[in-house]
Amino acid sequence: MNRIAYASIAALFFASSVQLANAKEPAPMLKDGELKVPADYKSWPKFLTGVDRPDLKQVRDIYINPIGAGAKPGEQFPNGTITVMELYKAELEADGSVKKTKDGKLVKGALLKVFVMGKDAGWGALAPAGLKTGDWSYSGYMADAQTPTTDAPAACRGCHLPLGDTKDFIARYDEYFQKR
Ligand code: HEC
Repeated sequence: MNRIAYASIAALFFASSVQLANAKEPAPMLKDGELKVPADYKSWPKFLTGVDRPDLKQVRDIYINPIGAGAKPGEQFPNGTITVMELYKAELEADGSVKKTKDGKLVKGALLKVFVMGKDAGWGALAPAGLKTGDWSYSGYMADAQTPTTDAPAACRGCHLPLGDTKDFIARYDEYFQKR
C-alpha cells in the first residue's frame, strides 16, 4: 500500500471516530406534561418580553434556549429547542380595569403560571391523534414552576396547531424574527 492509501484510511478512521464521538444518545420521549421547566431559563436569550394581553388582563415574558435562538427566519426551530413563557397578572385600577403606563403598556403584577414547550426528534409520535404539532411537547405549571396546572395539554395543542408548520406552531414567530 502506498502512502496516499494509508493517509486516506487514516482519514476515514478519523472521520468515523469523530462521528461516533458526536453521536448523541437518542433523547428520551416526552409525553405532554413531562417536560420540566429548566432551572436556568431566565439566563436564556429573551424571545419577547412585555407581551401585553389586555383581553386576559395578563403580561407575558417569553424565553428561548440558545439552541432555539440559533434558528433562522423562515426555518423551523431545531430539535433541542425549548421555550418558556411566564404568565403574569396585570395590575388593575380600583375599578378593575387594567392599569397602564403613560406609554399605554400594562404593568406586570404577580406571576401566575409558567408554560413550557420543547421539541426533539420523535416526540410528536406521542401526540394524541389529530393534535400533532410537529415534535413539540407541552407542559403547564403554576408560579412555582413545578406544580402542574389543570390546563389540558389538548388545549395547548388546540391553540398552537392552527398556527401551522410554516411558523413551527409558534404564536409569535414573525414578531420574534422581526424584533430579534
Ligand atoms: C387560547 C390559545 C392558547 C392556549 C390554550 C395555549 N396557548 Fe401557548 N400561546 C398562545 C399565544 C397567542 C401565544 C403568544 C403569546 C401571547 O400572545 O399571549 C402563545 C405562546 C406560547 C409560548 C411561547 C412561544 C410562542 O408560541 O410564541 C409557549 C411556550 C406556549 N404558548 C406554551 C403553551 C402551553 C404549554 C400551553 C398549555 C398549557 C399553551 N401554550 C396553551 C396561545 C395559546
